[in-house]
Amino acid sequence: VRLELSLEQIEKGGYKHFMLKEIMDQPNAMRNCLRGRIYQPAEAPDRWEIKLGGLEKAKEGALNPQSPLERMANACRFIFAACGTSWHSGLIGKYAFEKLAGVRAEVEYASEFRYRKPLICDSDCLIAISQSGETADTLEAIKMAKEHKAAAPSIASVGSSFDPKAELPQALTIGVVNVVGSSIARETDCGMYLHAGPEIGVASTKAFTCQVIALLLMALRLGKQRGALSEEMLNMYCAALNAVPDSIEKWMSSLTEQTQVISKNLRLATNALFSGMGVHFPVALEGALKLKEISYIHAEGFPASEIRHGGITLIRNFVPVICIAMRSDPAYEQIKQMVRDFRHKGAALLVLTDDGNTDFAGVAHFTLCCPATKLEMQPLISCIPLQLLSYHIADMRGCSIDQPRNLAKSVTVE
Ligand code: G6P
Repeated sequence: VRLELSLEQIEKGGYKHFMLKEIMDQPNAMRNCLRGRIYQPAEAPDRWEIKLGGLEKAKEGALNPQSPLERMANACRFIFAACGTSWHSGLIGKYAFEKLAGVRAEVEYASEFRYRKPLICDSDCLIAISQSGETADTLEAIKMAKEHKAAAPSIASVGSSFDPKAELPQALTIGVVNVVGSSIARETDCGMYLHAGPEIGVASTKAFTCQVIALLLMALRLGKQRGALSEEMLNMYCAALNAVPDSIEKWMSSLTEQTQVISKNLRLATNALFSGMGVHFPVALEGALKLKEISYIHAEGFPASEIRHGGITLIRNFVPVICIAMRSDPAYEQIKQMVRDFRHKGAALLVLTDDGNTDFAGVAHFTLCCPATKLEMQPLISCIPLQLLSYHIADMRGCSIDQPRNLAKSVTVE
């Protein structure tokens, strides 16, 4: 028997599309992103440590000789600049930085940031998040953050001897990038590679979850350094993060069939709404973006309560509404109420919740359950059924999944 396989089929590893391969590859990609960065030291195996090698040394010739980690620990503000899916991981990062590291964080569309005159000072850190490391707007945002070094010196540097023409230390720029040696990796002062492996499908999947991991690792490391997390809390969070890849591996294989059944029911929709609150709002945005990107169904993500201020007019019979409702969500009771309301208005309701939750029996048309983890890490898990749902819907609609119309893997033009 002669088996003829094209190079592309071999690269797809038996999957029909690169996107599906990359979704299913996430436990491994996450492990690679965590490897060597989070560990229990041999001499104290009940403790967890985080080591981020790419943030330890200042670049040669840098104006500020402090180590990036030291500067990050003393930063007044973090600015995440990114586009598309990477912008969504920035939103999750903001939540983690505020909650775990106790530091201010803002998220910017790189394309908006670069055309403004934002106030940036030397105690700011700009984190550029990009799978490709080549997105033109994100690259420009970094350059702009550097150029604005004299625009707004921090209060500490404005003394009586302040000379506005003197070269001031600039904001620290940090890259969170997948492609090694890419422009963003080179342009930033320091950074973290995702080690997610090549991502071929235009719609980003494994790079997204690895970006979230990288930002969580930074938040935990800074939380320790800034004294925002006790040793005990740090150990608890590290153990939870480290357990994510194993906890999703088995569950993911059972998800395929479930998401296929739901996709069959939703595949003919022309509009879909995704709702989530808190850390799950970015997951709702990402779920909507994935569906738009590859199935060409119009989709929008909302913070659950915000739907009341407009989106609610779109809910009528058979409009799919996908609600993320984890019992760990601080606004869980409100979300539950909203879900009932959506059902009352005739929505075709899919609820994504945590294992063992029966609160939506008789309310939702479909329920998908995820393994539960600490709230800050839950997006790593809850985004996966939404990726699969988009994939199967797009496949059933016969769409060009790995190369959707009009969409580029990385937007290098302005
Ligand atoms: C394009 C891709 C998206 C990606 C975005 C940002 O729009 O289609 O999948 O999220 O660019 O790309 P980056 O490489 O900077 O993460």
